[in-house]
Amino acid sequence: MATATADREQWGSRIGFVLAAAGSAIGLGNIWRFPYITGENGGAAFVVLYLLCIAFICLPYLFAELALGRNSQKNPVGAIAAIKARTPWMLVGALCVLTGVFILSYYGVVAGWAFGYIFKGLVAPATDAGTYFASFIADPWTVIPLMGFFMLFTISIVASGVEQGIERASKVLMPILLVLILVVIFRSVTLPGAGAGLEFYLNPDFSKVDGGVVLAALGQAFFSLSLGMGAMITYGSYLPKSENLLVSGGYVALFDTAIALLAGLMIFPAVFAMGQNPSEGPALVFVILPEVFGAMPLGSFVGAVFFTLLSIAALTSTVSLLEVVVSYFVDETSWSRKKSAWLVGGFTFLVGVPSALSQGGSDFFTNQLQLFGQTGFLNIMDYIWGNVSLALGALLLSIFVSWVWGADAAVRELQQGADGFTGMAVAVWRFFVKYVCPLFIAAILVGKVLGTI
Ligand code: TRP
Repeated sequence: MATATADREQWGSRIGFVLAAAGSAIGLGNIWRFPYITGENGGAAFVVLYLLCIAFICLPYLFAELALGRNSQKNPVGAIAAIKARTPWMLVGALCVLTGVFILSYYGVVAGWAFGYIFKGLVAPATDAGTYFASFIADPWTVIPLMGFFMLFTISIVASGVEQGIERASKVLMPILLVLILVVIFRSVTLPGAGAGLEFYLNPDFSKVDGGVVLAALGQAFFSLSLGMGAMITYGSYLPKSENLLVSGGYVALFDTAIALLAGLMIFPAVFAMGQNPSEGPALVFVILPEVFGAMPLGSFVGAVFFTLLSIAALTSTVSLLEVVVSYFVDETSWSRKKSAWLVGGFTFLVGVPSALSQGGSDFFTNQLQLFGQTGFLNIMDYIWGNVSLALGALLLSIFVSWVWGADAAVRELQQGADGFTGMAVAVWRFFVKYVCPLFIAAILVGKVLGTI
């Protein structure tokens, strides 16, 4: 095992880590998935539940992942081995690494669509937005090269290293993202009729809440913060002991939540102003929004801006997915960072091809393939890796940190760089991470699995 801890890379600054980790968290999950899940689950009441999940479940769990990563200075497999070597717990680390490859494989497909849609305004479609989108994602000669480009960007950032690649790219890309979002929000809320969208989004009606809505909120919160597969173990492993994990982690959660909330503010006023339906599902961003843009002044410009920001957000997330796997090969084998990034990235591209073909490109991958109540390769992959595996990973990792490694050891790690973390705050965190998190996460998992059998 190559354990050159002394030479291990580190973030160059606190803001660098915060932006990179926020970049991992902020992605298609915030801008594409959060609005359509909110739309499907009734609007403002869902948003309130989502915020409760972030504060009471995800935040305590995020600290657990960061503490484990910084303590071991390792990838998820190495981090677990450092505490419980040669036990079945190592399989949890392996699950993290595998989940990274598989989520990246289909996430890269959707990211490729977003990338392609930047230029879509230039080729003004003759058909309606729905037909155009359906033919766009069905064409293998469009989607496979787009996914390939996206993987190339991702690989080149990861290959350049933690500080020179990931941190540097995040420092440039994240501020651009924020500015672009503000531009689109401004256009959206100043449309005539935007008020109905604000009402739907901001005025809760709790009669719409049931168990399914709570599970949807919790699942979305985990995915959005990049939790459950060791991404935050890996990013935490590049932090120095002087860093205050509670403050930095708090910023990451704050930024991620703020961007999700802003994404809703960008989308719902426009959807309502244009008389569209907010519960349109995954097509909300790719079909409804282009229709909205098409019908408004400066629409093709705003459209290009919007899909640019979606691509940027996706890129800093694909970087983190690849980094988890690359960190494993760099720590545990003799492979260099460059070699690992290119080999893992190339392999992931190949695994992504069936997902790219599953939106009409191949009848087999689109319609015939069915598993766990899902139809089509991409949906099956998202169900297995983006839902069940993340929930399982989060459950096992929270048990590992609080019961196997031990809450006391985790608290000692968190206290390095955070002297004020004592007394009541410690007691509250221990209670959440030992009991509340595992219980709630077990509930998502059972809910998800029962939902499909
Ligand atoms: N959080 C990202 C998003 O919202 C996606 C993502 C990146 C992710 N890395 C992850 C999700 C690790 C789960 C685990 O789009």
